[in-house]
Amino acid sequence: MSGLPDYLRRPPRGMRDWLPPQFYALRHMEETLSKVAEAFGYRRVETPVVEHFEVLAKKAGQEVVNEIYYFKDKAGRDLGLRFDMTVPIARVISYNLSLPRPIRWYYFTKVFRYDEPQHGRYREFYQFGIELIGSASPRADAEVLQVFTQALDAVGARSYIVKINDRRVVDKLLERLGVSAYRDVIYRALDKKLKLSREEVIKLMAEGGVSLDTAERIYDIAEEMSIDEAVNVITKLDSGLGSFYNKLLKYLEAAVSLDKFRFDMSIVRGLDYYTGMVFEAFAGEYKLAVGGGGRYDDLLELYSGVKMPALGFAIGVERLMEAVGLEGVEKPLDYYIYIFDDDAYPHAVAIAKRLRSAGYSVVVELGEKNLKEVFEYILKIGTRYLIIIGKKELEKGVVKIRDLQRREEFEKPLSEFYGTT
Ligand code: HAM
Repeated sequence: MSGLPDYLRRPPRGMRDWLPPQFYALRHMEETLSKVAEAFGYRRVETPVVEHFEVLAKKAGQEVVNEIYYFKDKAGRDLGLRFDMTVPIARVISYNLSLPRPIRWYYFTKVFRYDEPQHGRYREFYQFGIELIGSASPRADAEVLQVFTQALDAVGARSYIVKINDRRVVDKLLERLGVSAYRDVIYRALDKKLKLSREEVIKLMAEGGVSLDTAERIYDIAEEMSIDEAVNVITKLDSGLGSFYNKLLKYLEAAVSLDKFRFDMSIVRGLDYYTGMVFEAFAGEYKLAVGGGGRYDDLLELYSGVKMPALGFAIGVERLMEAVGLEGVEKPLDYYIYIFDDDAYPHAVAIAKRLRSAGYSVVVELGEKNLKEVFEYILKIGTRYLIIIGKKELEKGVVKIRDLQRREEFEKPLSEFYGTT
């Protein structure tokens, strides 16, 4: 076959085309998730897909910097595609310092990461997220977690779990155990907790220089626990942190059911800007996190010179769609109007106009198909009604309407379509 070779017919690696059914499913997600954010008083923002590379690279962490789509424009500027929305929003705030705080913003938009594509890992994907900027209160943490779970509920994610962690807690624990020097090794080992067995994780720590005894203790303390238990553990480690989590627990409890939450010290987030609580959500059998977020109290200062505590989350929209099994939404046509010749064309157009202004989708036949071909076509594209305007019908002052769903046919006077609009 001539034309483009197959690899050029497909989008670039790790990217996808959105045909109408998939796009309508995406739109459904956008509408549902936006409604949740709006209901909490968040307002939508958008920023350029392209950012100054320097802005992107500032606090992303080496792993993410390596994933930035980087290029020079024709004037030699170093640019890159945004890998999330938290960083661009931090830049926007840096020259909008007079905005009344706290700022509540949300987004539903494309981000880019030059990651190794595999199931659930794309190079271009959508994120829905919120950022709450300018509050250090544990009520802000509770609010963000509440919006997060409400967003997951709204799209029908049923059996999900939100795992919370705080690097400060893990660091305190390591300090207590006298193994702060092995922080990186221990973090890396804990990060593998979902994938490896207890013995294997302990072995990783031991190989990194941690005594077997301590490695076992770390593993057992880092076992997933309820938020209640976690508050006890945290209070023993550090009373200040304990009191923060105590308050957070109270606020959270007032708003949402706590069964969805677990404290899990193996949640090590990839981005470098986090400073406090972090969290990730896992839905049903889906292996990868469908969303994640946390506090980044130092990031804004880095961009604007002004200290501004902040936190937020982002949900990976494609992953969430896969997790809830939303593949496509068909959008059938309401009316297809078929005429046999040009004489009926003015009637077809007038009827179409009337129906469209009533909010229906209407297609008028272009005159290249016979009735049999039209039937085949409209069944394939999905159509509710076929209106046929023939000579006989026109003489009688009616049109023939076929209800393709109910498989019924009836006539309707033309005058019904010519009433006042
Ligand atoms: P993140 O964990 O890097 O956080 O990404 C958020 C979500 O985006 C992930 O949980 C995942 O569902 C989705 N995601 C990440 N990488 C990919 C990929 N390659 N393909 C498909 N989906 C992906 C952030 O981006 C932070 N900005 C979240 C945040 C907002 N923290 C505070 N405010």
